[in-house]
Amino acid sequence: MMYSQSQLLDLFNEYLSAYSFDRSPRSLYDPVKYVLSLGGKRIRPVLMMMAHNIYKEEVANILPVAMGIEMYHNYTLLHDDLMDRADKRRGKDTVHRVWNDNAAILSGDAMLVLSYQLVGSCDSSQLQEVIALFSRTALEICEGQQFDMEFENRNDVSEREYLDMIRLKTAVLLACSLKLGAILAGASIKDADLLYEVGINIGLAFQLKDDLLDVYGDPKVFGKI
Ligand code: IPE
Ligand code: IPE
Ligand code: MG
Repeated sequence: MMYSQSQLLDLFNEYLSAYSFDRSPRSLYDPVKYVLSLGGKRIRPVLMMMAHNIYKEEVANILPVAMGIEMYHNYTLLHDDLMDRADKRRGKDTVHRVWNDNAAILSGDAMLVLSYQLVGSCDSSQLQEVIALFSRTALEICEGQQFDMEFENRNDVSEREYLDMIRLKTAVLLACSLKLGAILAGASIKDADLLYEVGINIGLAFQLKDDLLDVYGDPKVFGKI
């Protein structure tokens, strides 16, 4: 069947709420649970399942990998908020405000490991390709974050440099999500690469809009305070 976006979102959120963090210590996992329960659009897992659904009737078997990508995304937000010293995320107090800086660092580290565990739970025949793409993407996001921080202290950033930075920081994860969905469905390399390009373009548009709202938007209207 062809799933609608809202069906995919429901499917993913159901999987996420059933995912248990029953290991100890609680103080390591509570912030993980907290950040994942704050909501969020879940755009990356939904894109992954959409790409998968182009080729496959069923999408449920990629839920663990989709969860891995969402876990990874939320880990970047947790550490980004610490780096930015942000007080709020999705309208709620950030982890380092509710707990403390060290909790945000260590729970973030745990989330990075958990995301690898989840992404690596795919079929072993696709493991190498999947991990290679995911690792390259994760490293590019660090590169993008570093450029972003450096650009904060410069007033001569060119359009090209800015676009490269947001491609690394944001677009590659959307692109990776779409491509993983395709790879896991056994799509051709050509198709998977084309979906990657779609993801890059969606990601650039997405970050451009986010930055425009950050500069010119009314926080009361768009909800980021
Ligand atoms: C926020 O991403 C960070 C950016 C890349 C702009 P999202 O806007 O996807 O965050 P959530 O998960 O929906 O809160
Ligand atoms: C969030 O980026 C972190 C990454 C995309 C890796 P931003 O700093 O642009 O996003 P917000 O404004 O905090 O959501
Ligand atoms: Mg930020």
